[in-house]
Amino acid sequence: MTTNDRQWDGLIQGVALATLDADTGYGAVTDAALGWRDGVLTYVGPRASLPADAASLAREVIDADGWITPGLVDCHTHVVFAGNRAVEFEQRLQGATYEEIARAGGGILSTVRAVRAATEDELFAQSLPRARALVGDGVTTLEIKSGYGLDFDNERKMLRVARRIGDALGITVRTTYLAAHALPPEFAHDPDGYIEAVVQWLPRVHEEGLVDAVDAFCEGIGFSRTQTRHVFEAARALGLPVKLHADQLSDLDGAALTAEFGGLSADHIEHTSEAGVRAMARAGTVAVLLPGAFHVLRETKLPPLDLLRAHGVPMAVATDCNPGTSPLLSLRQAMQLACTHFRLTPEEALRGATTHAARALGLADRGVLRVGMRADFVRWRVGAPAELGYWLGGALAASVFAGGRVVAGS
Ligand code: NIG
Ligand code: FE
Repeated sequence: MTTNDRQWDGLIQGVALATLDADTGYGAVTDAALGWRDGVLTYVGPRASLPADAASLAREVIDADGWITPGLVDCHTHVVFAGNRAVEFEQRLQGATYEEIARAGGGILSTVRAVRAATEDELFAQSLPRARALVGDGVTTLEIKSGYGLDFDNERKMLRVARRIGDALGITVRTTYLAAHALPPEFAHDPDGYIEAVVQWLPRVHEEGLVDAVDAFCEGIGFSRTQTRHVFEAARALGLPVKLHADQLSDLDGAALTAEFGGLSADHIEHTSEAGVRAMARAGTVAVLLPGAFHVLRETKLPPLDLLRAHGVPMAVATDCNPGTSPLLSLRQAMQLACTHFRLTPEEALRGATTHAARALGLADRGVLRVGMRADFVRWRVGAPAELGYWLGGALAASVFAGGRVVAGS
């Protein structure tokens, strides 16, 4: 075959693949090849079964070793923020709790002050390196929430920055409107009035193409079930999917509420009851586990892992990267923490950071290596895929491809 436009753009051979393309197991293929064209996978399988010789099949042929997995999907982050909260971390180490700090006007509200004080360009400049770090460790799809603006202009500013990050890094960014994250000082004595404002702003930011999903913080220090329901109804009216910071510090039955709205995911869920888990299973709502926040807050209440498994609720793993409870800049590290704290198997953790995380974002075109899926994949310097849930730190991602293009490594 001579060069022609039916040639694949690229082909990597000699690697091993963890395709995850079955309900269980890594879907391992050794001495494998992976081909792609126009951002989509065209070949996934043994090198020996390639339909012709490599040089004639693809414009660029790469001989490599290591393991290739689907690109990682970080389905829950607050990576756009200004400043940081290292001081609160020190206070917590001296005994103050997250809730005490929040009630005293710190916590989320201290980041709100920093975000409001930053211009859009400053916010972008501060946030981009964090997103770049996540990409450098294998992330090709990144969810980013608003929630530190808490007024129309600043929520919009955060969402605009999130979109700019996707463009700058060449990855997919999915934005989530989380204005119902905390009560801003202007509404300190009027939470219902604030929720009304949140509901009014939503169509305006949505109209600008800035919203892919809607989230809220349903908690004693956040918003009630009734207030959350109001936000969810506004999302539903616009055809937007919902997800929730649910049952993190107490059981407000947030997981069941999310399921009632056919939500994409219920996240945190440390305190979710069996009834909540059943509701999630019925609705197909994904459980997003956030071991970084669990770790940093030194929590002891585990999510209902056995119940999630027993009821067949898919478990995703995400960084929850945020300045308060999870200053975590590696999804692979979150996988390790999920194994250590939640006793996920490394295979569950990998599936949780790929296949199930894609589902938690409503994305059906990624999360496994299969012909026809997006060419989002990572080549890792490891001898076995279980190492991805094993190492703490290190530089394991040799190359990160999003839509068939290198976005990190080489
Ligand atoms: O997912 N729980 C609420 N939101 C974040 C924390 C945000 C913050 O403390 O800045 C979370 O843990
Ligand atoms: Fe969060």
